[in-house]
Amino acid sequence: MRFEFSGGFLIYRNSRAGPTFLFLKRKDGFLDIPKGHIEEGEDAREAAIRETYEEASLKGESIDQFYRYDYWVWFQRDGEKIKKRISVFLAGVKQDAKVKVSYEHVGYLWLGYEDAMKAKLFDQEKLATKSAYDYLSKKGMVEGINEEYRKLPERYKSWDLSRRFVPGEGPVNAAIMVVGQAPGATEDQKGRPFVGRSGELLNHLLRLAGTRREDVYITSVVQFFPPKNRIPDRREVEACRGFLIRQINAISPKLIVTLGNLPASVLLGSSRIMKSHGTITKKAGMAYFTTLHPAAAVRIRSNLPIIEGDFRKLKGIIKRIGVT
Ligand code: URA
Repeated sequence: MRFEFSGGFLIYRNSRAGPTFLFLKRKDGFLDIPKGHIEEGEDAREAAIRETYEEASLKGESIDQFYRYDYWVWFQRDGEKIKKRISVFLAGVKQDAKVKVSYEHVGYLWLGYEDAMKAKLFDQEKLATKSAYDYLSKKGMVEGINEEYRKLPERYKSWDLSRRFVPGEGPVNAAIMVVGQAPGATEDQKGRPFVGRSGELLNHLLRLAGTRREDVYITSVVQFFPPKNRIPDRREVEACRGFLIRQINAISPKLIVTLGNLPASVLLGSSRIMKSHGTITKKAGMAYFTTLHPAAAVRIRSNLPIIEGDFRKLKGIIKRIGVT
């Protein structure tokens, strides 16, 4: 058996009725997405970008940083069995983007989700299109929530947190969501969650759990920096709690990892983290894994083996409950 690897793109345009996806017409009547072999020295995404340019003359204007959908196909070539992995990425283009197909195809079509499901597309590509469509629906929901959340300080006469909103980060279809307390000064400056010292440690801990930062969705209970890194007060937590719940509902992960006391108390009503850390709690159909906040190990080194132990345990749990 021979293994081969390809990269491709689902290219979409937004319209009032939802996204429409680009399909290239093959000579045999089937539709295809722009895709092709990964050449030497390229990764899957680079190959997808090059192939999309060669086959459709398009450069993705807004490539989604996190989306990736892998599928495998099996076939025979000259009597040899081939197993091929196709990695699909997602990019939006403007309504008036010009498509020019190469000699490999005889035309192109923009199809909405429903029409794509009825079109002459291989089943695997229908599944890839469904995954991209679901992802874009979730992304739209999360962006809508964030638009409102960003303006929260305007609703208050006295607002003691930073006015800079730090949105959650990661694939909106992630199976695992990680919830911290509130951004720190570095996060406030960069406008991204967990990019300071706690973030570095979190990246290491996620690797211990057999996953990677780019595969999980990372956010915090309060998404505005509390000056001097103080714990957000009750009124601030109350103001933000509803947004967190809406984000969780939109993303609908399989597992939520709570870091430290605040998310455990907001989501589970329990705040005795030194007792409950390293355990799974099921509540209203959701599984929660509670552990310490990485900042606790940055400040007090003796907490490091405790939190590392929790994330090693998490690795087993992820395997057991089939979260990928
Ligand atoms: N700590 C948190 O709880 N959230 C962040 O975004 C960064 C540090």
